[in-house]
Amino acid sequence: MKNVVVVGSQWGDEGKGKIVDWLSSEADIVVRFQGGHNAGHTLVIDKKTFKLRLLPSGIVREGKISILGNGVVIDPWALLSEIKEIKKQGIKVTPENFMISESASLILPFHQEMDEIRENAAGKGKIGTTKRGIGPCYEDKVGRRSIRVMDLRSESNLDTRLNNVLLHHNAIRKGLKKRIFKKDELKKKLLKIAPEILKFAKPVWLKLDEYKNSRKKILFEGAQGILLDVDHGTYPFVTSSNTVPAMAATGSGSGPDKIGYILGITKAYTTRVGSGPFPTELKNKIGEELGRRGKEFGTVTARKRRCGWFDGVLVRQTIKISGINGIALTKLDVLDELNEIKMCIGYDLYGKKLNYLPAASEDQFKIKPIYESFPGWKTKTQGIRNISDLPENAKKYIYALEDFIGAKVSSISTSPEREDTILIEDPFKS
Ligand code: GDP
Ligand code: IMO
Ligand code: MG
Repeated sequence: MKNVVVVGSQWGDEGKGKIVDWLSSEADIVVRFQGGHNAGHTLVIDKKTFKLRLLPSGIVREGKISILGNGVVIDPWALLSEIKEIKKQGIKVTPENFMISESASLILPFHQEMDEIRENAAGKGKIGTTKRGIGPCYEDKVGRRSIRVMDLRSESNLDTRLNNVLLHHNAIRKGLKKRIFKKDELKKKLLKIAPEILKFAKPVWLKLDEYKNSRKKILFEGAQGILLDVDHGTYPFVTSSNTVPAMAATGSGSGPDKIGYILGITKAYTTRVGSGPFPTELKNKIGEELGRRGKEFGTVTARKRRCGWFDGVLVRQTIKISGINGIALTKLDVLDELNEIKMCIGYDLYGKKLNYLPAASEDQFKIKPIYESFPGWKTKTQGIRNISDLPENAKKYIYALEDFIGAKVSSISTSPEREDTILIEDPFKS
């Protein structure tokens, strides 16, 4: 049996939550290792919808342990309100089934404000962030001044750490003519919620080591997608963490040798929220149709997602970068009514053919996709659970996609419902 890492192979919202929830029937532990409440993972179980931001998707299954690793950035108020919300839906969240790393950095109100200030000032050049304070928090982490979960344990330590981080932020805020953050006010607010947060705080690396020794199966749940990775994505239109599967080891404190199968969640077309290049974007009726049928609205910000054809070049690239072993192809049913389906198989940049995404943002905006066309199947695939029940044209599209990207399709999702999934190869066993 192998541990499995689930990552998004495009720009996020590929359906990671649904697949993690489906796979978690086989796992003992589900671990988030990067990102924060910029993520929005939707699960639909027997027509009941759960929207998760920070909590790992394993939380909805009884008997599973859900973990936020050190690589996650945690807004403590957002976490507490999410716990409260999900408890109302009948889900248990206790220190027995949920833990957070003592070393995880906290998103504080000035991070969120700074995210907003920058985005509002950037005008046309804005990134289109979720304005949750993700970027500013990761900056402080790398700048060695962030407040971490463990800092909530001691008032004097918290005092020192707050002095340090506010020295930096208040200097910038002063320059921007924004109100100065008062240490005592913030300290009081943090100390008030500290017991609620600290009851979940553990040395996650140690717990994971114990779980590994007792042969528990671990499922690592990525957020965002490889094209939003701060190193490998469409920089600067990216998030501020590494979203590649290698981060599962760093962001949880378990060795890379514990990563078994890497499953890339891949939408049968492409979407993106926020700004940045998107070569196969469809600003026409077909794009609108994909958005309508796929219900492409952001889980976190309710923004309309931009939609376009499947970009084989991009997914082939993210597979190579991240070491994806197989993909779960999602939202196939969204293509059901189309007469023709296109797949991008190359780019044209001023007459020059390219078989990968150029690194420079200005080129990424200018490339033109080269397409291969496939006939649609015009039949309902929604809810199909056996590959043999798929229409021939759907199979042809899937095989061509598999061939082009160079990775096996190991499962196919045909609706938001947990069980509407075709299993081809079990990632825990292959
Ligand atoms: P994540 O961020 O990768 O977890 O994805 P999101 O949850 O943000 O967005 C995926 C959306 O598509 C959610 O609303 C899911 O319920 C839905 N979804 C997932 N798989 C399928 C599928 O196979 N078909 C359809 N129609 N919807 C799906
Ligand atoms: P899940 O896990 C889609 C995008 C934002 C923006 C950029 C930077 O649900 O797939 P940030 O707030 O992270 O600084 O924003 O990244 N983004 C996502 N897009 N799905 C997500 O998460 C995203 N998380 C961030 O829209 O373009
Ligand atoms: Mg999402």
